[in-house]
Amino acid sequence: MNCRELLEEHEVFERVSKAAQQLQLPAFVIGGFVRDYLLKRPSKDIDIVCVGSGIALAEKVAKEAGVAVNVFKNFGTAMLRLGEWEVEFVGARRESYNRNSRKPVVEDGTLEDDQNRRDFTINALAISLNKESWGELIDPFDGVKDLRRKIIRTPLDPQITFSDDPLRMMRAVRFASQLNFDIAPDTFDAIIQQADRLQIISAERIADELNKIILSPKPSYGFKLLFHAKLLHQFFPEMVALQGVESRNGQSHKDNFYHTLQVLDNVAEMSDDLWLRWAAILHDIAKPPTKRFDPRVGWTFHGHEDKGARMTPNIFRRMKLPMDHKMKFVQKLVRLHLRPIALVKDVVTDSAIRRLLYDAGEDLEPLMKLCRADITSKDDIKVKRYLRNFDKVERKLLEVEEKDQVRNFQPPVTGEEIMETFGLKPSREVGEIKDAIKEAILEGKIPNQKEAAWQLMLVLAKEKGLGEPRAGAPKAGD
Ligand code: CTP
Repeated sequence: MNCRELLEEHEVFERVSKAAQQLQLPAFVIGGFVRDYLLKRPSKDIDIVCVGSGIALAEKVAKEAGVAVNVFKNFGTAMLRLGEWEVEFVGARRESYNRNSRKPVVEDGTLEDDQNRRDFTINALAISLNKESWGELIDPFDGVKDLRRKIIRTPLDPQITFSDDPLRMMRAVRFASQLNFDIAPDTFDAIIQQADRLQIISAERIADELNKIILSPKPSYGFKLLFHAKLLHQFFPEMVALQGVESRNGQSHKDNFYHTLQVLDNVAEMSDDLWLRWAAILHDIAKPPTKRFDPRVGWTFHGHEDKGARMTPNIFRRMKLPMDHKMKFVQKLVRLHLRPIALVKDVVTDSAIRRLLYDAGEDLEPLMKLCRADITSKDDIKVKRYLRNFDKVERKLLEVEEKDQVRNFQPPVTGEEIMETFGLKPSREVGEIKDAIKEAILEGKIPNQKEAAWQLMLVLAKEKGLGEPRAGAPKAGD
């Protein structure tokens, strides 16, 4: 196959080729860029490998193009930006690994050595940038055939490839999930055999790959591969524990692992938001530790939403996921995930609706998506009926919000106003009055308006024996 057309599409290649000729270094485009080009997928990075010094080639290209170059001497690599492209240069190398580390012993090598050390056949494709073979595709392991047959396979014995770098087991699943490819049987067998070697990989790198799996079009596929290979067991035992069905007195609960994956796929169809997808993964995470069998009612998972919310920070911390507002968002959705569905009944009070609006606040839309996604059953008619009722709840939420505006609730009477009116210092009473006003609004006893809240404040203050408003204190409407 010849890829001349590709090389003529972007002037980057012409530039690199010229510089390589001047230095008399054979150079090639290699790896993900070639794969994505053949798959017609967009990519932003270009990897160049040359037989000789990658740094020298990068410096030459940078000089001719008048751009800066970043040199990483320790790794023997260099990086520069050419227009929209980030281009990375490396000298062709052979690598040999030690069993207990991902740090290889590196020596200079040929293009073939370099292709041998790569993870998968589809990632070992190279295109020549050299005059005599310009545009030629160099494919020693039938990578193109694997692209056509949609197969992830290692170029060498998979035992060696994975033992060299166990992160590649996660990458195999990640590519399979992103591209909807199969993993070749002997490659998958090697993953099963070496799954526990994932222990030498840092949590950050595992999380990077896991997040890419989660963001793939049908993430359940990646998770099933992780589960069957027992990779998931290495870093996410809580999720593994969701799997299985227990029966007692002829009553079984559903398999919460497969249910969770169904919810995740449903959410993935509605949104590309990584954290909403994480909320789907964790929404039932506390079902195993809260599971009970009660002969009168069957299986119960009381409080799994609160326990799940408490487990969320620990899981995020261990997996080195962000502990900021993203974790808080996931935690909030896990805690609230049963609330909207509880409103699917004939009579729903406005106060229940107001409470949900208040508690969900700005995260109401993603919460509703999660809750919709959570309606799974083998019985399609049942699902449709539930979803129709759910539409009603959604309409009701909109109506009540329009009327009462409690979603981004701001107390109509502030703590400062209470303190100023009664000449108080910050104290428990002030908090209690504020809370009671909020409760009265959510319960629908008073409207969400200043005047009504002010009157209630006066009544409550009297009850608490705080006396009359000070002379000159502000009044409602001030
Ligand atoms: N590679 C490898 N083993 C790894 C990581 C990378 O052999 N553990 C090789 C592969 O040939 C890969 C190339 O290095 O194609 C570049 O790696 P990277 O940029 O991480 O991945 P891409 O294949 O470019 O894919 P993506 O951009 O989707 O991450």
